[in-house]
Amino acid sequence: MSRIHSLGGYFHEYQKSVQNPEAFWASVADNFYWRKKWDKVLEWNFEEPKAEWFINGKLNITENIFERQLFTHGDRTAIIWEPNDPNEPAEHISYRELYERVCQFANVLQAKGIAKGDRVMIYLPMIPEAAVAMLACARIGAIHSVVFAGFSATALADRIKDCQAKAVLTSDGNYRGNKTIEVKSVVDEALSMSDGSVETVIVCQRTKQAISMTAGRDHWWHELCQGASIEHKAEEMDSEDMLFILYTSGSTGKPKGVVHTTGGYMIYTYYSFKNVFQYNPGDVYWCTADVGWITGHSYIVYGPLLAGATTLMFEGVPTYPHPGRFWEVIDKHQVNQFYTAPTAIRALQAFGLEPLQDYKLSSLKTLGSVGEPINEEAWRWYHDHVGKDRCPVVDTWWQTETGGILISPLSGITPTKPTYATLPLPGIQPVIVDAEGNELKGNSVEGNLCIKFPWPSMLRTTYGDHERCRQTYFATYKGYYFTGDGVKRDEDGYYRILGRVDDVINVSGHRMGTAEVENAINEHPLVIESAVVGFPHEIKGQGIYAYVICEDLEKTQRTEEVLKKEIIDTVSKIIGPIAKPDKVLLVSGLPKTRSGKIMRRILRKVAEGDVSSLGDISTLLNPEVVEEIKTKAGIPA
Ligand code: WTA
Repeated sequence: MSRIHSLGGYFHEYQKSVQNPEAFWASVADNFYWRKKWDKVLEWNFEEPKAEWFINGKLNITENIFERQLFTHGDRTAIIWEPNDPNEPAEHISYRELYERVCQFANVLQAKGIAKGDRVMIYLPMIPEAAVAMLACARIGAIHSVVFAGFSATALADRIKDCQAKAVLTSDGNYRGNKTIEVKSVVDEALSMSDGSVETVIVCQRTKQAISMTAGRDHWWHELCQGASIEHKAEEMDSEDMLFILYTSGSTGKPKGVVHTTGGYMIYTYYSFKNVFQYNPGDVYWCTADVGWITGHSYIVYGPLLAGATTLMFEGVPTYPHPGRFWEVIDKHQVNQFYTAPTAIRALQAFGLEPLQDYKLSSLKTLGSVGEPINEEAWRWYHDHVGKDRCPVVDTWWQTETGGILISPLSGITPTKPTYATLPLPGIQPVIVDAEGNELKGNSVEGNLCIKFPWPSMLRTTYGDHERCRQTYFATYKGYYFTGDGVKRDEDGYYRILGRVDDVINVSGHRMGTAEVENAINEHPLVIESAVVGFPHEIKGQGIYAYVICEDLEKTQRTEEVLKKEIIDTVSKIIGPIAKPDKVLLVSGLPKTRSGKIMRRILRKVAEGDVSSLGDISTLLNPEVVEEIKTKAGIPA
């Protein structure tokens, strides 16, 4: 079904998808179970913006994962769960068992008064219950919002408030490498900061550490499941009903809730999963992302399960208990498709080839990369040493907002080229524009990446603020969806993503808004002003470089080192450890234009250690601070 088998087939499908997108996507949607078929495939305009797919179609996405497939492969493994500690046994959960666990938990949620349209926060580690929680919400029509369990209480509280969540699904604790992490206490702290929308907290037992339970509000997952029926009739959803909200960073300080809906997201994640990874029944597929990111949503849970795949969920980290852990898991479960981030590849590359030597890796057929541009060295290492020269590397470009992979090779079909995401998937019409928004046609051009026609899994809005969605994505270049990425199309028509052109940095494949980090730094009582930029980092791709103006150090009675540490801890507390600055430079001023705008370009150059082309700084309000900053950054005069 909907499967491309050859390069010729790809070009043929692509042509069809551009000439008649409605007919093309309707034929993919025909593979699914709709309680009521749609009246019209698509209605759209990019001015409002509006994009609606499969209008008036009625369905439930979990019926398409379970009921549609149980007859043919109820006994097939849906999820293989590999725990953090290799001595703890892995779990194999069949489609039928997963179905029963989802139905049971759907009944639990409904018994707690959670209904269609309610928002439910999921703050869970990488355990099967995270997938069960998402699917149970989808089953009853509640809108889930997963928050990465490494985010701080403040970050969680902000998201709870923004969507007025009614319930939080969480765990007592979390195992990560050699650490046991508190989870429930973070939820408690977040709830003490939020405004009372949350009525119910359901706690899954993982670490059995001591936690406090608030009577009336907090309940144990396993206790609520006792006696709950394993049968459940799925709620009927409109194709355009919200499936989930996922918060992501942008160029302003406040993360935005990207909204995805049901029908379009379902068919696009399914279609892209099958074609990019060339998944065959019986294959074992492993994506190492966390369910807290879009990659976890689309390519651990929804896409693979809609395609009847066996998807591996890994609780641990790449280097625990040893740097061969990924390779050990691949051999243990005979993984066929392996999908990870360049930052993980670079981190493992740093251990050399020795950790690979004990493993065969002969089951591998496809290697995937996602989250940030992959540098050529990492690409080659991945291809040569992990894939042993025989597995295609699919460098998949996409975003939280796009819902699924938009530009990528199809494994074994599209000839690859290191660092290139290659060609758009069928249905995706990329354009490259210059700064004025003129389309740059033909090959060998470079500019900003836009998409000119809607695709089914495109974001529909930003939760509670449609104008923000319009401003952020549809106002920069009229008539186009603007991605925020720079891109090059080479002489073969292949796309190479060059990285963000806005104030978003990509740290270990995680999106961070510079303004968000600045806001957190400014929370420190001694900080007057700050400016954050990205700089090239060997492992993380980009690191966070913070220029900070503080009150007079002598008055503060702290050493510079102590103050810097306090600033870093503040960021960790407000956003989470992933947003910690790698470098903090205390300065007396920031370079500004006469209108008071911070000249980030200069700060970026200094952070890169390359001041050869700073341009004319004499027009700045305060050119003298540039010298000071250069000296403090250790750049020779
Ligand atoms: C970057 C992750 C280059 C890009 C799925 C994008 C990439 C942002 C690639 C979205 C890739 C993602 N090559 N850059 N293969 N994949 N990016 O929302 O800058 O967490 O805009 O979605 O990551 O990050 P997000």
